[in-house]
Order: sequence, then structure tokens, then C-alpha cells
Amino acid sequence: VKKLTDLDVRGKKVFIRADLNVPQDEAGNITEDTRIRASIPSIQYCLDQGAAVMVTSHLGRPTEGVVGPDDTLAPVAVRLGQLLKTPVRLIADWVDGGFEIKPGEVVLLENCRCNKGEKKDNEELAKKMAALCDVYVNDAFGTAHRAEATTHGIARFAPVACAGMLMGAEIDALTKALYQPARPLVAIVGGAKVSTKLTILKTLAEKVDQLIVGGGIANTFLLAAGKRIGESLAEPEMVREAQQVMDIMKSRGAEVPLPVDVVVADEVSALARANRIPVDDVSPHDRILDIGPKSSAKLADLIAHAGTIVWNGPVGVFEHAQFAGGTKMMASAIAHSEAFSIAGGGDTLAAIAKFDIAGDVGYISTGGGAFLEFLEGKTLPAIAALEARFQD
Ligand code: 3PG
Repeated sequence: VKKLTDLDVRGKKVFIRADLNVPQDEAGNITEDTRIRASIPSIQYCLDQGAAVMVTSHLGRPTEGVVGPDDTLAPVAVRLGQLLKTPVRLIADWVDGGFEIKPGEVVLLENCRCNKGEKKDNEELAKKMAALCDVYVNDAFGTAHRAEATTHGIARFAPVACAGMLMGAEIDALTKALYQPARPLVAIVGGAKVSTKLTILKTLAEKVDQLIVGGGIANTFLLAAGKRIGESLAEPEMVREAQQVMDIMKSRGAEVPLPVDVVVADEVSALARANRIPVDDVSPHDRILDIGPKSSAKLADLIAHAGTIVWNGPVGVFEHAQFAGGTKMMASAIAHSEAFSIAGGGDTLAAIAKFDIAGDVGYISTGGGAFLEFLEGKTLPAIAALEARFQD
């Protein structure tokens, strides 16, 4: 794709699609601003060159046609202004133009998903938005899996279409990890369900040297391996699929290392009494809520010898201290590894924050669904739209 940093945007009108979809509390205060911070380099780059900068994003999943009280980007405009150290005007009705911006000024265009036709990638809407700018910049990696008017259609009609600095960094890091990895390539896929990550598991099984599974996913794999898992969270209907994933790994001379010991309790709660037991000793009332120390040590060793690490999903219920040991050990092994590591997904980011290893991970993706779809090997529509304009 064409990159913003290869362009001269001096005196140009630049339209930046960012992903500023950040969590807020009930009073509308932003509770986590990573995505706003991550959007700053591209905006600052354009401002420094003297461009007139329009930024937009979606917030939530609003009804098209109105901007409800929970839909407005007003709090984001304030935060953006603080980070850029310049006031950021919020423009309410912007699709038909009619607002002024000076070179070196930045404005925020109200929640783009409130415009009729945004989600369906309406061509008329995309053309109108393209007419607002000289250069279209897509910096919204977190929304790259959506083909909407601001992420996809506009890229066809804008005079120039390129990737912003965040988009570029995400594409580079993910491509490096998945398509040009230093070997061994180790993937850790945790989380509750095989069904939601089946494509990822199958795609990774074709690529990686070690596939570590955790959480409810590992429980389904244990079932497939003929183990008893008591009352643990699992999907018995996915056992065949889990077996297929193990078979793919086996056909490539590798395996899916399953836990040899586990941490069990009879309920998931902060007060639950945890027991560490060999995986063969799980009784009918037990729930497996973490991997045990022997398993953690074995997996940490695999991680220590990795050339590249891809991490999505915790291996235990790390929100509770007595079930956090496995995920903590993984996090620490990744932090101490010399390998290039990439991590993404909401729970993974929460684990990274909890165990305070953000500074030691090679790249932390801002994408949730987009990160997962990239791991699935899918072509993300927003990236494809930029690629289509590469030769222009
Ligand atoms: C996200 O939070 O994953 C992105 O901002 C995409 O949001 P969406 O799932 O509402 O498209």
C-alpha cells in the first residue's frame, strides 16, 4: 500500500479515517485512550506539514441518521485536543462540506457511522466524502475488517488513498510475524471457545511450529485427547474440529502441547478454593480454570526458544489471582524472550496491562476483530481498497 509518510501533504486537505472507538463510562468519560494516542503520529505528521486535517471515526454501533447522546465524538475531540495540544473543533454535519479549515488546523468530523449509508458502503456517500479531500488516509486498523463508506468506498474515489502510520505499523508487524517469521514461530491461542477461533486455529496450524492452546479452547482439546474435564467450560460439539487441528500439526511433525497439570475449583469466583492437580486426576465436579505450574514451565520453555511469538487470549481465568498463574507465566516468558512478539485482542491487552509487560512486547495491535481476521489469513477490505490504489 501507499504510505502517508511517502507523500507530501503540504497545503493539502487530508481526510484521516481513524479508529477512535474507545470505551467510556456512564458519564461519558473515556476510560481507556490507547486508540486515540495511537492516532496521533499521522495527525501530527499532517499538521507539521501544514495540511488542513479532517479526522473521523465511528463510535459504537449507532442507528444511522441521528447522533444520539451516547454516539457523539465530543469527549474524543477534547482528549484529542489535549494530546495534540491544540483545540479540536467537532463538526456535526459534514458530509456535504460547507465548513472551513485552515492549513495547520485539525477538526474532528462527528461519528461517521451516524451517516446514512456508512455501514452499507453506499457509493454516493463515499463519493461525497471523497470530494472533501485531496488525500484520503486510512489509519483505522481496528476497523480494517469492515467494508464501510469511510474504510472502503472512499478509497476508490479520493484523489489519493494511502495508509496512515498506525495502519502501516500494524500491517508491517502482522506481516512480519505471520508471513516472514523468524523460526520457530510459536502461537498462543487462548479464550473460551474453539468455535469463535476455529479458522484461526486451522490457519495457524498450517503455519506455526508450536500451537499453544489455553482456556476453554484447551479444555475442548483435552476432550479430543480423551481426557476427563469434569464441569469445565468446553464445546463437546467441537471435539472433531479440535482433533483436526491436532492432526494438521501432527502431519507437519509438530504437536499441540496439552496441559499435564491444571488448577481446578468447583466455581469461578474470587473466593473459590483452587487445587493444583495432574490433568488425569480431574474429578466430575471440577472446573479447570488455569494450567498448572508444570505445564506453565513447559510452555514458558517453548516460548523462550521461539523466534517469533503471536499471542491472542489468556490461558486461565487471570482476573482471579488463584487462576492467574498460567497467564502470568506466559506473559513473563514473552516479556523475557528475545523473539519478535505480537499480541492483540481485548483480553490479551487486559492481561498485558495487569502483568505490566507492555514495554516488553514487540508489537501490541490496536485491533480486536481486525487482528483476529488477519490471523485467520483473510484479506481485510480496508487494506484491499488501499492496495487497489497502490499503482496510481
Ligand atoms: C473494534 O472496537 O473492534 C473496532 O472499533 C470495530 O468496531 P465494530 O466491531 O463496531 O465494527
